[in-house]
Amino acid sequence: MNIRKATISDIPHLLYIYNYEVLNSTSTFDIHPKSTEDFLKLFDSHGNKYPIYVAEENFTILGYGYLSPFSEKEAYSITVEDSIYIHPLYRCRGIGKQILKFLIERAKDTGATNIIAKVCAENFISLHLHKSFGFAEVGKLIKVGSKFGRFLDVIILQLIL
Ligand SMILES: CC(C)(COP(=O)(O)OP(=O)(O)OC[C@H]1O[C@@H](n2cnc3c(N)ncnc32)[C@H](O)[C@@H]1OP(=O)(O)O)[C@@H](O)C(=O)NCCC(=O)NCCS
Repeated sequence: MNIRKATISDIPHLLYIYNYEVLNSTSTFDIHPKSTEDFLKLFDSHGNKYPIYVAEENFTILGYGYLSPFSEKEAYSITVEDSIYIHPLYRCRGIGKQILKFLIERAKDTGATNIIAKVCAENFISLHLHKSFGFAEVGKLIKVGSKFGRFLDVIILQLIL
């Protein structure tokens, strides 16, 4: 498996992976599937500093991840947020771990001193994954989301680099 920068031609694969979550899980609070145009905007907003990366094996996209600024306000420029999505067929094979490890190194490269993850409280696997890299639970937002007819809490995790 190798991790490389995503290109526009990966978008159909990324859309499949992301929209599967939109429709089937609370790992994202998006409710309506995203379009190619939405992902083109995502690519545009990520540019050189925070590119989107894909994990690939034998020309198959297994998952993807990226960093984003935590906030556009300048004093937050030392803080980034991570996002990771693994193809449903390739979960639980250590790919999420490899992408998160990779993103932590890229965050250090950008000079960030913190990574924040906002994880739905019922997403035990993502909570476990982040905590296994030393992310600490620093807060909980109660009933800030509503999807599939239920209220959802969000746990905020922080890794100080
Ligand atoms: C959460 C996610 C990124 C984890 O990636 P993954 O490749 O499936 O996970 P990994 O194989 O790297 O495993 C990470 C850890 O979780 C555990 N884990 C993975 N899947 C599991 C499962 N179904 N049940 C229990 N534990 C599981 C692994 O054992 C491992 O723990 P360990 O380090 O103690 O051995 C992936 O499942 C995913 O994309 N989920 C949907 C989208 C999502 O939740 N994204 C994160 C949003 S905050």
